[in-house]
Amino acid sequence: MSFLIEVVRRVRGRVRPGFAVAVKLNSADFQRGGFSEDDSRAVVAALAGEAVDLIEVSGGSYEEPAMGGSAAASTREREAYFPDYARSVRREAGAVPIAVTGGFRNRSAMDSALRSGDCDSVGIARPTVIAIDAAASILDGRTATLTTHELRVGMRRLLGRLTNLKALDGFLNISWHTDQMHRLARGQQANLDQGALSTAVAMVRRNGRVSFGAKRGLR
Ligand SMILES: Cc1cc2nc3c(=O)[nH]c(=O)nc-3n(C[C@H](O)[C@H](O)[C@H](O)COP(=O)(O)O)c2cc1C
Repeated sequence: MSFLIEVVRRVRGRVRPGFAVAVKLNSADFQRGGFSEDDSRAVVAALAGEAVDLIEVSGGSYEEPAMGGSAAASTREREAYFPDYARSVRREAGAVPIAVTGGFRNRSAMDSALRSGDCDSVGIARPTVIAIDAAASILDGRTATLTTHELRVGMRRLLGRLTNLKALDGFLNISWHTDQMHRLARGQQANLDQGALSTAVAMVRRNGRVSFGAKRGLR
């Protein structure tokens, strides 16, 4: 936690007054013995005492890609993955605004999350890859439901015996969205026809052998 606080202070010390400094924080890393929601709440409480303009809460990691794959039924109903956690951190955050990101697709769900007072703003990530004006189209009423794209690996019976399909779907979807972000950066449109196989090939080309591993980074 002291590392994060030090980073926030150093960033604040280097930017001009009025420059917004935000922190995106996982609710939990969903690993046994790992970073828990209680840990996360303690970080929020510490951040509340710093000059932070926004705390955005989300979740998931390469080990447990909560932002990929299908959500649980209860989550599908209310859309956002982390509203209960957001409610509990609201108190800890004091005057610092809270944003919740993860799963929002319908304007009605975004409205009700905001009306509930559990968060001050909502974030959208993957739909922006399909339509870069996704947020604007919700705000100006052009769109009620954002479009998303989800890949599922084939040969599920066979692969399901060999590996964790949920994690595999998660990796593929993160990689598919990464590919599309590279296309957008080159001024191209997202390629909605890009399938699982070419996504897997691109993923291995980009990341090598660690593509299908749960852990990335320094060893
Ligand atoms: C390709 C891709 C890369 C991402 N990279 C990061 C990242 O570097 N840091 C982070 O905090 N979240 C990252 N995320 C998570 C998103 O910011 C967001 O929390 C998640 O996709 C859930 O929001 P959504 O349901 O609106 O997509 C990434 C998501 C995708 C699909």
